[in-house]
Amino acid sequence: MNNFTFYSPTKFVFGRDAESRTGELAKSFGATKVLIVYGGGSIVRSGLLARVEASLEAAGIAYVELPGVQPNPIDTKVREGIELGRKEGIDFILPVGGGSPIDTAKAIAVGIPYEGDFWDFYLGKAEPAAAVPVATVLTIPAAGSEGSGDSVITQKDGMNKLAIGTELLRPKFSIMNPEITFTLPASQTGYGITDMIAHILERYFTNTPNVEVTDRVAEGLIMSIMNEAPKVFANPEDYDARANIMWAGTIAHNGLCGVGREEDWITHSMEHEVSAWDDKIAHGAGLAVLFPAWMTYMAEHNPGKVAQLGERVFGITPGGDPKETALQAAKCLRAFFNSIGMPSTLREFGIQESDIDGLVAKFHKNNGEIIENRYLTITPEVSKAIYTIAL
Ligand code: NZQ
Ligand code: ZN
Repeated sequence: MNNFTFYSPTKFVFGRDAESRTGELAKSFGATKVLIVYGGGSIVRSGLLARVEASLEAAGIAYVELPGVQPNPIDTKVREGIELGRKEGIDFILPVGGGSPIDTAKAIAVGIPYEGDFWDFYLGKAEPAAAVPVATVLTIPAAGSEGSGDSVITQKDGMNKLAIGTELLRPKFSIMNPEITFTLPASQTGYGITDMIAHILERYFTNTPNVEVTDRVAEGLIMSIMNEAPKVFANPEDYDARANIMWAGTIAHNGLCGVGREEDWITHSMEHEVSAWDDKIAHGAGLAVLFPAWMTYMAEHNPGKVAQLGERVFGITPGGDPKETALQAAKCLRAFFNSIGMPSTLREFGIQESDIDGLVAKFHKNNGEIIENRYLTITPEVSKAIYTIAL
């Protein structure tokens, strides 16, 4: 096991009616004027926005709203938020929604105190030195942004989807009421479940030896998610199943599953090129296609951990040929994703063989020509082979 520092300071307030504590919690972190960031209106229709605002008012906290964040959030909305936040003199940011409003809020948070353009951070030209504090009211278990220091934004002009990660952006608190997720469409529930499993697998697939505790945490989490998933599709208002899925999404991505080990993240970076190619493609849908393809490629080139997953999570008989077991594990994962309504191929998004070279070129432009220190070194030949399997 490698040396590590684990610091995950977000205060999670979980359960029925948790949003009624928003004002009290924001006040305890020094908020006086809040920028509320949200998406296309699901929180208006469900009444959540009104409840959050009532809670802020009861605590004597002023607020302004930034609505209209789209899924796969874009840079222009971030600039709008930075301008609004500065003009209004806000001192706290509260996204109410999923990864898209949360990541937009985080980008605004580092953008407000910075003299240059916030996109510098995503290009790696500058490091954030300060951030307006952020807290979240989560409405969809998926991205894990409620507990992570990450933010992923797409530059509309050029469709570059890039990420930053900094401890400055760990939310101060996150409010998680599973009842709020009852209104999720089945498709979004499926994308979210896929994304959280992918967050665990990106950490599970490592060459770092002797990481049995985190391996078993990861395996247990994936098995619990796969166990609870059919229940939320059968009955979207099954509180306990929704609650288990919601908490799993947070632990999947708050760092716990990655301590003491090298992490991979190749599939995520390859997926970001797919949802940048067409921002109507949900991140979870892209992952459902690419992760089994990545595992299929690894069966040939580094089957060890893929076979271990097959034996321990999918119940494949131990002791077989690792390559065969790994191939079977990829098939089992694909079958699970299909069972929750996820696609299997890039063609289902309209991507053709002639598009692959473009995806490969952008992937390497954004991540380096040869990507080392991962589960397998990734060259353009390797990424092309994986996109081609996914086709
Ligand atoms: O916009 P509204 O009307 O709110 O509708 C949203 C949106 O259409 C809807 N929705 C959310 N909660 C709902 C609901 N509908 C009904 N009832 C509810 N309770 O769901 C749709 C998707 O929302 P979005 O915020 O885009 O979902 P998600 O949490 O999956 O976020 C995806 C984004 O997060 C990034 C992805 O790349 C993608 O851009 N990621 C962020 C990460 C991070 N910051 O740590 C890590 C991830 O790997 C991921 O890359
Ligand atoms: Zn993800």
